[in-house]
Amino acid sequence: MKQTLIGPFTQILPMTGILVKGAVKDEQLRIIENGGILVENNTIIAIDKYKDLLQQIDIRNTSLEEVIGDYVCLPGFIDSHTHICFGGSRANDYAMRNAGKTYLEISKSGGGIWDTVTQTRKASQEELEEGIAKRANHHFKNGVTTIEVKSGYGLSVSEELKMLRAIKNGNAQSKADLIPTCLAAHMHPKDYKGTASEYLEEISTNLFPILKAENLTNRIDAFIEEGAFSPQLIAPYFKKATEMGFTITVHADQFSTGGSKVAVDFNAISADHLEASTAKEIEILANSNCIATALPGASIGLGCAFTPARKLLDAGAAVAIASDHNPGSAPMGDLLTQAAILGTFQKLSNAEVLSGITFRAAAALNLKDRGQLQQGFLADFSAFPTTNYKEILYQQGQLKPEMVWKNGKHF
Ligand code: NIG
Ligand code: FE
Repeated sequence: MKQTLIGPFTQILPMTGILVKGAVKDEQLRIIENGGILVENNTIIAIDKYKDLLQQIDIRNTSLEEVIGDYVCLPGFIDSHTHICFGGSRANDYAMRNAGKTYLEISKSGGGIWDTVTQTRKASQEELEEGIAKRANHHFKNGVTTIEVKSGYGLSVSEELKMLRAIKNGNAQSKADLIPTCLAAHMHPKDYKGTASEYLEEISTNLFPILKAENLTNRIDAFIEEGAFSPQLIAPYFKKATEMGFTITVHADQFSTGGSKVAVDFNAISADHLEASTAKEIEILANSNCIATALPGASIGLGCAFTPARKLLDAGAAVAIASDHNPGSAPMGDLLTQAAILGTFQKLSNAEVLSGITFRAAAALNLKDRGQLQQGFLADFSAFPTTNYKEILYQQGQLKPEMVWKNGKHF
């Protein structure tokens, strides 16, 4: 099989040799100066100094993809939490918030998530697919090669199915890999004639088996919050999901605490948001294998506190960083910009921020084949036009990659 040697890159940061949990110093980052990556099909065969790889390869069986100029190469970014399947806009909510109304007040008065549910239900599956592909391909240009996408604006069996089928088809139209998640437990639908627990019962009885049958997702998420679902209501729902073999992830501790404990009790892969987490929740998360995911885009979009990422890391937790791109709380969607800003407010090292959007984000999605550049991993990486990796976060998202490779293919 034909191989391709890609390089030389001024610096390659393979993001290997760092633990999934805990604080990291920049001195721990491995840097390969004048490095190259040998690729076969979609996989990395070897990564090393370019001149050493040049000597090892069988030149008859290898093509050279020469990189001319100074570039820093990083693993493709992984955005482990988004809601990029939606209809409409929530510009009115944003203006109302900035005029003084709170997210929960707007939601109670008919705006908020329910507004997007109404607009998403009006959209056809094809329109949703187009929106997903457009947003995903935009993020791809910025170096994001894997994107988690949630449902959660359908809130009935048929409308959630429409969203998850749109995400599946949207994946085929996107350069990035899309990882679907069912968030039917986003809020108690206003038009549902029954209690919140009856709604959850209906979803787990009638939707979960179809998710399995159509292979739409193996991930179940819930928004645990006042005004959404309480820990008590969610427990039987998560129990059933776990028994059926789904993995769990949680919108936890966004405005009030409680969600992160449920996440740890149910062995969730990740607990996301955590803006309201206190010392108690930080300790619970740090003593678990649950990935604590900061969503700075939601803090910026809502104008509220950032996730206590510094305290989480110092306590020993695994911190991923995701964009939460959604029409309500996080309309910007720019993962690198948001991660860089979180870094300044939370005093995170370059190594911690870059870990949070690469291999720690892969762990938040239980993906073991990406997030680092090493033999056997997917050839997903990007090249930033600079000689020094520190420029990337320093320029706070304004320095964009000029080249992105997905599955070894150059875009
Ligand atoms: O992660 N917090 C709940 N869900 C989304 C917001 C969804 C919306 O406002 O439309 C979030 O921030
Ligand atoms: Fe979210």
